[in-house]
Amino acid sequence: MGAMVGVALLGASVTNAFAADETLRSLAEERGRYIGAILNSEWFGGRIESQFEQIHKAQFNAVVAENEMKFDATEPSEGRFSYGNGDKMVKYAQQNGMRVRGHALAWHSQVPNWVNNYKGQKDKLFKVLKNHIENVVSHWKGQIAEWDVVNEAINDNNNHGWRSSGSVWFETLGADFLDSAFVWAHAADPDAELCYNDYAIEWGLGSGSKAGFVLEQVKRWKKNGIPITCVGTQTHIEISHETTPKNVRDFAKALAELGITLNITELDIGFPKGSANSLSAKDYQKQGHLYRQFMDVFLEEPNMGEFMIWGVTDAHSWLDGSQGKTQGLIYDKQYKPKPAYDSLIVSLKAHAPSEVVSPYSSNTPESSSSTDVSSSSSTITIKASMAPASLSMQVSGHTLLIAGTQSAMVDVFDMQGRPVFSAKCETGSIELKNVSEGLYVVRVRKGSASLTKRIAIK
Ligand code: XIL
Repeated sequence: MGAMVGVALLGASVTNAFAADETLRSLAEERGRYIGAILNSEWFGGRIESQFEQIHKAQFNAVVAENEMKFDATEPSEGRFSYGNGDKMVKYAQQNGMRVRGHALAWHSQVPNWVNNYKGQKDKLFKVLKNHIENVVSHWKGQIAEWDVVNEAINDNNNHGWRSSGSVWFETLGADFLDSAFVWAHAADPDAELCYNDYAIEWGLGSGSKAGFVLEQVKRWKKNGIPITCVGTQTHIEISHETTPKNVRDFAKALAELGITLNITELDIGFPKGSANSLSAKDYQKQGHLYRQFMDVFLEEPNMGEFMIWGVTDAHSWLDGSQGKTQGLIYDKQYKPKPAYDSLIVSLKAHAPSEVVSPYSSNTPESSSSTDVSSSSSTITIKASMAPASLSMQVSGHTLLIAGTQSAMVDVFDMQGRPVFSAKCETGSIELKNVSEGLYVVRVRKGSASLTKRIAIK
């Protein structure tokens, strides 16, 4: 009991009164969804700061290995498999009731040299990949819920094509390696979800885009009976990438038509490298806005299941080392929750469990389709189920126009859930005085009816 209280307090920086036992994990669980973060086998059991393990267990119900299930880690020399570190993580996940994502089977990177040495030997390399997938997937059969079967196989040229250089798999086997990888993984664990995972998917479905190419391939795979069930959008973005949540929403909708789940698999939202010392509270709030928008999209789209962050604390993140970015996670270097943490909590709380569909259960509520996602509007409906159809709102500059009633209570919250404005509207329109430019959540209440929308004040 003492431990529970201590753990809960780690995530209780928020100024509004969250119940002490509410965590990202508890809120996600109530909604039939998974929120997770990476793990390394040396990150628990007292080998790094003790806060890490406390937070990881309290806040997350899903886990993915940062490196220790990749090809070079699991088969460092031919035919000799090394599962020790992965096993430790799977055990940790089982002990703590967490879902495990497996990452990654067929990827051009982090492949050992002995594999690259078979470049050009098609029959041999097919056998190598098949043997690897069969062994690794069978080893964790029934314990790893979902695999990234193929990772980052599309090129960066914006020309709708596979990565044709720098990939031993494609260069030797051609595009067949992808189809085969899914078939072999499915044979080894028929119950595992099987994903195609990539970066820059969040750039949208424009011409030549990765997302568009993925969509075409998913259609082809489905038509040909290739057992793909999910796509992962890594979503390693920068603070300036403001259109990405909307792009992820559009992509989720396109995949929903194909019966495919979309997961956010590696989220981080970095600032430019070197900027850490000059970042202000406002910068961190902006980061929170983006985190929140991803969580809103995640909860509102019925075919999204996992929200995985590529790290817990800025003290341990790949961004500083190799990415020219920094401070992209939801806890700072001292393990203090950032505004991004609060934003995620507030988004989860704004979506009642009854309104969130779980792609993992069949008895899903039907109300989720009530969300209005029209992008042309400056408002996005977050929660309208209690509102009579006649109640609506629009924002123009600082003026909030309410249709369907003359009088209503209006409350405006920032993206971290702090109240910034509250007044009674008597005339069907109200000035949102002293609310500065930015993104907010507005709640309009009339009796027991309430309509909540995200608005942009410009
Ligand atoms: C990264 C790890 O975070 C680093 O520790 C490692 O050095 C390189 O790989 N896309 C992926 C992940 O699919 O596996 C990558 O992880 C980040 C980009």
